Amino acid sequence: MELIVLPVEAWAERVAGDLVERLRSAPDLRLCLPTGDTPAPVYAALAARLESGEASLERATIVLLDEWVGLGPDDAARCDGRLRRELLERVSPGPAAFHPVRVDELAPEQAAARHDDVAAGGLGLTLLGLGANGHVGFNEPGSTADSPTRVVTLEAGSGDAAVARYGAERVPEAGITLGVARLMASDEIWLLVSGARKAEILDQALRGPVGPDVPASFLRSHPRLRVIADTAAAALVTR
Ligand code: F6R
Repeated sequence: MELIVLPVEAWAERVAGDLVERLRSAPDLRLCLPTGDTPAPVYAALAARLESGEASLERATIVLLDEWVGLGPDDAARCDGRLRRELLERVSPGPAAFHPVRVDELAPEQAAARHDDVAAGGLGLTLLGLGANGHVGFNEPGSTADSPTRVVTLEAGSGDAAVARYGAERVPEAGITLGVARLMASDEIWLLVSGARKAEILDQALRGPVGPDVPASFLRSHPRLRVIADTAAAALVTR
């Protein structure tokens, strides 16, 4: 595991710069991307770099990490809508393909199965945020290393966050997430962590017992895991 700790002012630019480098060396990269507060400044920095011609998404494929079930297509918290607004609509050309989770057209179980088929085509680089409860994607506590892509019952805090932090009109019924096993099959994983409120859970994920209580801990056995944290998030890990 590689741990990179940066001052908050430099953090998003560094992640965006590293992404540009990856896209330059592998223009047809298959990227799995999260949404939420953590990656938002990274996407802003990346969009600016792509628009200034440092690299392009033209040949890249983007696979969404997860999606809420029970929110309308225009809900502010929808993961596909956020990724479009924060990155995809800000860059031209856009990616060769973008794969959202098909929650509007399909029943949740079918949408999960369809999305797993997409991800089974291979993921070159997966970016993840870290939930305050240790989740990655919507792999909530209780998830195991072999958890498949599936419909997940959300912990109360995760569902409430959709309303309180992301502006959802209602608490989502459930989530659909790529499973831990699918994420671990990615060639490379970058775990992005920012802010003091993640310090305790990052410490548990990186130094506590590996197991279902903190699903992010499973990432430690990935051969190419990079953790990119700001100073506040890494405060306990680097203690
Ligand atoms: C979002 C996702 C979640 C978030 C996590 C952290 O696509 O998969 O696992 O990454 O809940 O959320 P933020 O970044 O808003 O603190």
